[in-house]
Amino acid sequence: MASIKFDWSEHYETGIPEIDEQHKQLFSIGRTIEQMSMKGGENVTDREILGLVNSLRDYTGFHFYSEEKLMEEIRYEDIQLHKKHHAQMLYFVSNYDIRKFRKNFDATIREILDIISDQVVHHILGDDKKFAAAYKTYQKMHKHMEEKVKADRMENEESYGFPIKEFNSSIAYLMRDQSASGHCVIVNKEKKAKYLAMTALERDSFHADMIRVAKAVKKVFKPDAIDYMYFEDVDEHLLFHIIPKYQTAEDFGKPPVWNKGKELTEDEYKDLVEKIGSEIK
Ligand SMILES: [Fe+2]
Ligand SMILES: [Fe+2]
Repeated sequence: MASIKFDWSEHYETGIPEIDEQHKQLFSIGRTIEQMSMKGGENVTDREILGLVNSLRDYTGFHFYSEEKLMEEIRYEDIQLHKKHHAQMLYFVSNYDIRKFRKNFDATIREILDIISDQVVHHILGDDKKFAAAYKTYQKMHKHMEEKVKADRMENEESYGFPIKEFNSSIAYLMRDQSASGHCVIVNKEKKAKYLAMTALERDSFHADMIRVAKAVKKVFKPDAIDYMYFEDVDEHLLFHIIPKYQTAEDFGKPPVWNKGKELTEDEYKDLVEKIGSEIK
């Protein structure tokens, strides 16, 4: 009986709220068709039939489009087959000859009900549930990755200071300690990266980021020299300190001395971050 097929139950839930809502809407269209079937042909106007067929076509089109967008978003491996099934169903609802209703209302409405209930229900239980499982796995992994990246960023900000710019493989920070005015650090995004293990391409890209930041620092602070430092045994990340040196400072001509506890106001940090950031070319 078609009436059972259009009763929504948890059994049909995919677990993607947006999709479940749309499926419920399709079920509701199915129920309207059932009610129409019970009224009998003589009590249904052409206008009602046309309205129903149009809403079924429009809503199905919208729903399939929504699902396909999600599939593209996660690069779903079975997207082509799923899309093909959508296209077949859409073809059916888009090309239904509504004149058939007038010729034999009962048989036509039963046919449309059977085909739709059969296709919709089977499609939801088969293709859609399979896709939903892939979508949820992707979301879980993605969320986990996002949380990890966020935690790493927060940790970096605590260790170094204020983010200036994010590059493909690194992030530049203005050090909280400004004993050397303009002291920045460029941190590789890959936490476990080791200098000697980098490929030539990775090294080039990292160095290029560092040079872009150093040039901006030079422009903003006009130091007399810049020291570049990395301490593999100390630093948790692969990074380079960019330390401007000034002839007027005690450590000029010697290894740089920092962490003397010179801190700025939040507004001053913000201002410097903007200045350096705008000079990164
Ligand atoms: Fe669906
Ligand atoms: Fe689908």
